[in-house]
Amino acid sequence: MLRILQALRGTQDILPDNIYKWNHVESVIKELCALYGYSEIRTPMFEDTKLFLRGIGDTTDVVAKEMYTFEDRGGRSITLRPENTAAVVRSYLEHKLYGDQQVHKLFYIGSMFRYDRPQAGRYREFHQFGVEVLGASSPAADAEVINLAYTLFKTLGLKELELHINSIGDYKCRPIYRQKLIEFFEEKEDQLCDDCQARLHKNPLRILDCKEDSCRRASAGAPKITDYLCDECEKKFEAVKRYLAALEIPYLVDSRLVRGLDYYTNTAFEIQYPPLGAQSAICGGGRYDGLVEDVGGPSTPGIGFAVGLERLLLALEMQKLIPEPANRKKVYIVTLGEDAVVEGIKIQQHLRDKGVIAEIDLQDRSIKGQMKQAGKNNAEYTVIIGANEMEKKEAAVKNMENGKQQDIPFLKVSDFITGSSRQ
Ligand code: HAM
Repeated sequence: MLRILQALRGTQDILPDNIYKWNHVESVIKELCALYGYSEIRTPMFEDTKLFLRGIGDTTDVVAKEMYTFEDRGGRSITLRPENTAAVVRSYLEHKLYGDQQVHKLFYIGSMFRYDRPQAGRYREFHQFGVEVLGASSPAADAEVINLAYTLFKTLGLKELELHINSIGDYKCRPIYRQKLIEFFEEKEDQLCDDCQARLHKNPLRILDCKEDSCRRASAGAPKITDYLCDECEKKFEAVKRYLAALEIPYLVDSRLVRGLDYYTNTAFEIQYPPLGAQSAICGGGRYDGLVEDVGGPSTPGIGFAVGLERLLLALEMQKLIPEPANRKKVYIVTLGEDAVVEGIKIQQHLRDKGVIAEIDLQDRSIKGQMKQAGKNNAEYTVIIGANEMEKKEAAVKNMENGKQQDIPFLKVSDFITGSSRQ
């Protein structure tokens, strides 16, 4: 096959047969967000590259290795968004949403782009549902966003999830921990993978969640961030845990959880579905109290998360939790000749106006071909208009379930079909 006739590596089409799964998940998301008081925000798919360099951090894998960056025809450096937190913050600042001193609770659903090695659950174009809460510093906001993610999965019926939480401190206490960690790993530098050796002095926390066996072994016994939190950070972390307990949300404190983006402070969390293997994180998030200032805005606290929708759908499929689409009444209209089509499309319109799914042949096929199509469509009723029917101004309406056929005046067909649905 011609290469141009294949979707690019790491991208996929969502075909009509599968779209109901996405619609199901998205409608549960939208209902839940309304219930929690979150409003939808839509931002562009690409932004000025500098936004991500500054927002996400240039030593992160996402920025250093995974961005789709190109120069546009005007010579500007553009990047397809690898994540949406930085872009939502840009929009919040551009439109001065902070001016009203209110907490802004936002959510989004959309494509993100990362140039990574594709595998099950990891794509180059993928979709996230995310939320960002801007202007709320209380640990109650941390508990609320975790609760929203947790309730989404519970509402969808998912089981066997693990919520991992950690606190990675703030600009006051993290530097002390960072130095301790560098000292610890300097002794074992030769045991670290090449990436981690490069990270050692730039971003030593990332060594803790490296998946390489040698780095995992080397990090056994490493100092824990939770032992170095300042009083304020410790108090906040305790409050988050207390609120989660009050909500009866089970969690594991995971001192290795550091997350891959530089903007996090205090609470970091992930929700994992272990049967997905290497790509088991279906949701990741945390607090980012420095980000708004880092990209040039007034000091504003923030917290949020993003769920990978492909991974969520894989988990839902594994647990058979996606309901088949609701079967609304279907009608297929079979006609012979142009005059019959005139009557047929009028009946079709009456049915559609009443919310009944109705279709008519668009290929000038024989009556036999059209009847076959009615079967393929799983039609509940077939409305047949041939020469006899045109003469009597009545359609032959066949109930495809029991085979019963009745002649109904053209003008009454839609009433007959919708009326019979109530019987
Ligand atoms: P992240 O951990 O980079 O965080 O991504 C969040 C989720 O997106 C992951 O847990 C995973 O489910 C999904 N995901 C990431 N990369 C891929 C991929 N290549 N293929 C498929 N799914 C993927 C963020 O993006 C942050 N912006 C989350 C956040 C919002 N933090 C605060 N607010």
